[in-house]
Amino acid sequence: MERSLSDFVRGLPKAELHLHIEGTLEPEMMFELAARNGIDLPYPDVDAVRDAYSFTDLQSFLDIYYLGAAVLVTQQDFDDLMYAYLERAHTDGVVRAEVFFDPQTHTERGVGFDVFMPGFLAAIDRASAELGMSVGLIMCFLRHLPGDEACETWEAARDYHNVLLGVGLDSSEVDFPPDTFEEAYRRARAAGLHAVAHAGEEGPPTYISGALDHLAAERIDHGVRAEEDDEVLARLVDHSIPLTMCPLSNLALNVVDRLEDHNLKRLMDRGVKVTINSDDPAYFGGYIGDNYVATAEALGLSEADLTLIARNSLEATFAPPEDKARWLRELDDYLAAR
Ligand code: ADE
Ligand code: ZN
Repeated sequence: MERSLSDFVRGLPKAELHLHIEGTLEPEMMFELAARNGIDLPYPDVDAVRDAYSFTDLQSFLDIYYLGAAVLVTQQDFDDLMYAYLERAHTDGVVRAEVFFDPQTHTERGVGFDVFMPGFLAAIDRASAELGMSVGLIMCFLRHLPGDEACETWEAARDYHNVLLGVGLDSSEVDFPPDTFEEAYRRARAAGLHAVAHAGEEGPPTYISGALDHLAAERIDHGVRAEEDDEVLARLVDHSIPLTMCPLSNLALNVVDRLEDHNLKRLMDRGVKVTINSDDPAYFGGYIGDNYVATAEALGLSEADLTLIARNSLEATFAPPEDKARWLRELDDYLAAR
């Protein structure tokens, strides 16, 4: 039974829309890169790293996540990290990935755009040629840092504006409302980029409306707390704003006490366009396929529900309409062939 659910999920063509590339750094690779770059880690071995992955909330995770990212130094490191993720996502039926990266985590350590961007782009080219995957990059601003640093980051990325798909907003949420980043987003949108933002993970529903009003966000990352405000919920439904939800992340960071309590299905039943994604899979114990399976088991999702979620994900991409139409046909063909 579990085997067939897992097979069904992995065969479904789907998009991953909420994935932090720095959150795919598996402990094994962390050690490998630390050795390659002569960096001392505060852990004796891989098991000790995994033992440290016991989080109480978002901040307790972010502290460890930023620490781990320090092993990423050379162009090859970023290339290896991106390719490993794309290969793994491909085995889960991901045909399109819109991948977040956190430039400020790297630039503040002296690792610049000219290091990580060529690394990411080389891996993406290879995944396109060898795996047939379609990949976009979304540059995220760290919201615990000031709005003018986000603007400086936007300017520092100037050589790469034309290869970016969009901008996003992540890191510590509570007390860091979206309006601080209005100017950075205005510049990015003026350059033709798409806009998304984390909101309603730990922060209140007003951060969701703030992301729509001040940042013109086209998708909301997480959005769990939308359920607390009928007006916010109605906006998401009326304007078909997708939520990129990450159930195993929400469980690991205590946004929900039990997966069975997750509101994904309730929101779906109220007409919200929900999707399932993995957020930081190396830290939260599951890639996108694991998230689909665990959520289906906890919430009793049917194959029809899972199909709708995969369909939502393909429709919610920022890919050209002809690509979306092709993936949706592949989804229909997959269902028809069963
Ligand atoms: N950065 C990486 N994962 C994140 C999350 N779940 N929320 C906010 N910022 C993040
Ligand atoms: Zn996230």
